Amino acid sequence: MTQLTIGHLAERAGVATSAIRFYESRGLISSVRTAGNQRRYAQSTLRRIAFIRTAQRVGLSLDEIGAALATLPDGRTPTKSDWHRLSKAWRPRLDEQIERIERLRDRLDSCIGCGCLSLKTCALSNPGDEAGEWGTGAVFLEPSGADR
Ligand code: FES
Repeated sequence: MTQLTIGHLAERAGVATSAIRFYESRGLISSVRTAGNQRRYAQSTLRRIAFIRTAQRVGLSLDEIGAALATLPDGRTPTKSDWHRLSKAWRPRLDEQIERIERLRDRLDSCIGCGCLSLKTCALSNPGDEAGEWGTGAVFLEPSGADR
């Protein structure tokens, strides 16, 4: 079986060697050591890294990715059907992220030309704030906003 050096793996996977060491330190990929204590990776690690990178783009944390990989029997590399099952489960999450970004984009329209950056009312400087739902600008100074 062909085994890859960390440099070769990094080049083929399109990631930095530091990322590979990091994924390995988090238990997402593994290597064997040569007699000279150098890392060697199985060819299948390429697919595993592709899986990790794609999952990160979807917004999954490394812990979540590790949990997903742990559902695979014997820690094997994800197959096409594994990928189908896992990616299907992530679809609602991606939809939610898209909705959130669209809401943020719509609020940005209100910020353009405003400039208040209010910690209480600006949806961009404080995106989780409920007050952002009430309107833009100084809503607490407006009669309709003061009663809320
Ligand atoms: S700058 Fe965002 S509401 Fe004023």
